[in-house]
Amino acid sequence: DGMPTCDFTIVGATGDLSLRKLVPALYRREAEDQLRPGTRIIGVSRSDLDDDGYRAVVGEALAHHIGDELDPVVVVRLLARVHHLVLDAATPDGWHLLHHLLKEGDPDAVRVFYLATAPALFGPICHRLDEIGVVDPSARVVLEKPIGTDLASARAVNDAVGQVFDEQQIFRIDHYLGKESVQNLLVTRFANTFLEPLWNSRWVDHVQITVSETLGVGERGDYYDGSGALRDMVQNHLLQLLCLVAMEPPTYVGRETVRDEKLKVLQALKPMSADDVDRDTVRGRYGQGLADGVAVPSYTEELGRPGSATETFVALRAEVQNWRWAGVPFYLRTGKRMDRKISEIVVVFKEPPHAMFPHHEGTQPSPAANRLHIQVQPDEGMQLHMTAKEPGPGGIRLRPVSLDLSYATAFDARMPDAYERLLMDVIRGNPTLFMRRDEVEAAWTWVEPILRRWSVTPDRPRRYPAGTSGPTAAATLIERDGRTWQESD
Ligand code: BG6
Repeated sequence: DGMPTCDFTIVGATGDLSLRKLVPALYRREAEDQLRPGTRIIGVSRSDLDDDGYRAVVGEALAHHIGDELDPVVVVRLLARVHHLVLDAATPDGWHLLHHLLKEGDPDAVRVFYLATAPALFGPICHRLDEIGVVDPSARVVLEKPIGTDLASARAVNDAVGQVFDEQQIFRIDHYLGKESVQNLLVTRFANTFLEPLWNSRWVDHVQITVSETLGVGERGDYYDGSGALRDMVQNHLLQLLCLVAMEPPTYVGRETVRDEKLKVLQALKPMSADDVDRDTVRGRYGQGLADGVAVPSYTEELGRPGSATETFVALRAEVQNWRWAGVPFYLRTGKRMDRKISEIVVVFKEPPHAMFPHHEGTQPSPAANRLHIQVQPDEGMQLHMTAKEPGPGGIRLRPVSLDLSYATAFDARMPDAYERLLMDVIRGNPTLFMRRDEVEAAWTWVEPILRRWSVTPDRPRRYPAGTSGPTAAATLIERDGRTWQESD
């Protein structure tokens, strides 16, 4: 499978992302024998831990996140690869130790530097790596979002990292792209013939993309309050989903071809004027309410900052100005502390052009528009909603029915976490599922006018009770166009 031996250095090795996502993903790949002999995992953090100390931390994280399935034999194999260095990006002290450790390894090992840190440290860490001379031409750096908080700061981060690594060496993670169901979007669209002829403004009425969560901001308040839902979710995950729904077929799936097509979609998004922002975006923030039946505090209470104007919910109406999609609205919404955790894409087709079935007073619903629900998570799958004849001798009665594809029943396999795929792609050197600099910057270019307008309007985010589907204004946003948010059953 083209997997080389690797020195996988994680900077920020004791942080939440490392322990919750990276370490379990590496464990899963170890269990599948995908890590080559000689591959090492080098944790770097400010925590005062030696190799064994960090191994204990990793062991605990695995017990917590893998649980009952944990295989002690695999754990021993994984831990034997693990090292730890106490380093601080703020000072040059000790970084030569990383140089020595890397020198001791397999000379052919691919060097991966995974920066699981605050983005403000991306530049300084790259600078340290450069200083100690460990960035060879096959080295790779992995960056987590957020890349910047607006276009200028994203450029500054990209410039700083770009001084040390070439663009081909930079892997920017949007973990949504690693989700099985998201990768399947391309396959659904382009490995089948029956959808593509309908996938345009002639037959599609509109598209909805919903990513709702039941969690609040919890421990992440410090980061989140400076970010908000637009930067945290829309600028990256929701726009990436939109790209995969709207893009043209590339000639083949290659390192740049998919990204080229996604970029064209981002560049075709209709820029929002101040009036557009006022009309086509809704900001919300959760108040007190319920999460899974338990009473929870409001966002500002959770945060302890009553003055905050940060949004925890966004709904907006976007348009892709190109031949395929002209005039088709894309409604996007995302929020924390909503009524359920679901990520889904709904493609709503136009009504049949002619109503040929007679209406019988009150008993005959007119055929509903066809809808394709693509469920990204949980319960990955797809439903095609259509109209059928209700069985019976009493003439033709129409009833809504659905074709239902569930991944769990169609495939007897564990659904790997997004990070498993993405980490292996980094080691293999396959950048297809990572965000290129121009994509990140095009996304910021589109998002920025919204941020700018929000920062000057006197309006505040609208309150919605925790455990609901967001502020009523979000329903109004779509209903004024004669449409409604589609919830899957
Ligand atoms: C992250 C955001 O990128 O995505 C979080 O920073 C959010 O705020 C998370 O909770 C959602 O990811 P998933 O995979 O749980 O849908």
